Amino acid sequence: MLITNIKGLVGLHPKEKLVLRGSEMKDLPALENAWLLIEDGLIKDFGKMSEIPSRISNLPSQISAEGKYVFPSWCDSHTHIVFAASREEEFAMKIQGKTYEEIAAAGGGILNSANKLQQASEDELFESASIRLKNMILKGTGAVEIKSGYGLTVESEIKMLRVIQRLKANSPIPIKATFLAAHAYPTAFKDNHQGYIDLIINEMLPQIAAEKLADYIDVFCEKGFFSVEETDQILKAAAKFGLKPKIHANQLSVSGAVEVGVKNNAVSVDHLEETNQHNINSLKTSNTITTLLPSCSFYLGIPFADAKSLIAENVPVAIATDYNPGSTPSGNMNFVVSLACIKLKMQPEQAINAATLNGAAAMEISSEYGSIAIGKKANLFITKPMPSVAYLPYSFGDVQIETVILNGEVYNG
Ligand code: NIG
Ligand code: FE
Repeated sequence: MLITNIKGLVGLHPKEKLVLRGSEMKDLPALENAWLLIEDGLIKDFGKMSEIPSRISNLPSQISAEGKYVFPSWCDSHTHIVFAASREEEFAMKIQGKTYEEIAAAGGGILNSANKLQQASEDELFESASIRLKNMILKGTGAVEIKSGYGLTVESEIKMLRVIQRLKANSPIPIKATFLAAHAYPTAFKDNHQGYIDLIINEMLPQIAAEKLADYIDVFCEKGFFSVEETDQILKAAAKFGLKPKIHANQLSVSGAVEVGVKNNAVSVDHLEETNQHNINSLKTSNTITTLLPSCSFYLGIPFADAKSLIAENVPVAIATDYNPGSTPSGNMNFVVSLACIKLKMQPEQAINAATLNGAAAMEISSEYGSIAIGKKANLFITKPMPSVAYLPYSFGDVQIETVILNGEVYNG
């Protein structure tokens, strides 16, 4: 497939560039008036229209992208898209002024989702998650991470991870699976935290490792959920099974979650709506990526993360949706990129890099995804005609995507 007359071919980072930190994040290399050649699902070559080689200019399978831009697909590195039911009853409570913690304490929240998921069949969960995934792909997502965490029993956590495994086998995009049994204490273990941690460590982890059901371990390290010490214990046990951490840190309060993540070689620490200088200091000297989730802040009405300080201090920042029924019922990366600009005060180039190459890095797939480079997977999208790159986040709430290409083929859903 040959794409010609591209107004702007965006995200041309060198293939060996696996993550962008600090000042590198404002650099979004692009080529104007370009062509792009795809072969066997990979990016084969690209260049300027004025210099297009005659041997390829007559290829039969061509798309003209006049006035349009080509971007690498969004890499959404933090989602919870396997769930049994939506939770719009909590939406009304939030509007009345109830906080996330109050709703959870009133029997809503994660435990509510867990009750419903425990009753759902694997097939039902697979069907509903497949629809969500398809809609995300149509909005430009070309790689995704999906967490368990609404099972909270051995049986149901395994059920969720099997659903994710089935999504992996059936999806045209790469999927990473994260084991998040440490999402909330089930009611039966409300007063016996160690009992639940033992269940995670002694029963869930060995079975998950034996069936290769997870790529990462996650813990919701937060007041009222899992303490720093409990998090450390779980991360160390998971490391013995080869699972690296991607954790929920500092969503509602500064807790030591960032430091315990960094100490355990987390691939990413996610959320950070609350941060202090100590957190930033520990991140800037580590390889841990900070994944910010501005649509969660938007929906819950909690503070927006301090992206500017993180970037100024040389921390690699990714952005993701956090798509889940409780705190972010939306999987629209285009909106996340807009919010990153409007609310996190990221420049459009920084936000786009955070949503592509750094998102891929937060799933450890940036050698194959997240930028336009020869030899990388041809997961990309062609926009509608647009006046500039910045128009994409500027036109918030709209989706500027016209054609989705995955593995070198047009995806129609
Ligand atoms: O990332 N904070 C923990 N987990 C999810 C929300 C889970 C829920 O409310 O169902 C999050 O925001
Ligand atoms: Fe989350």
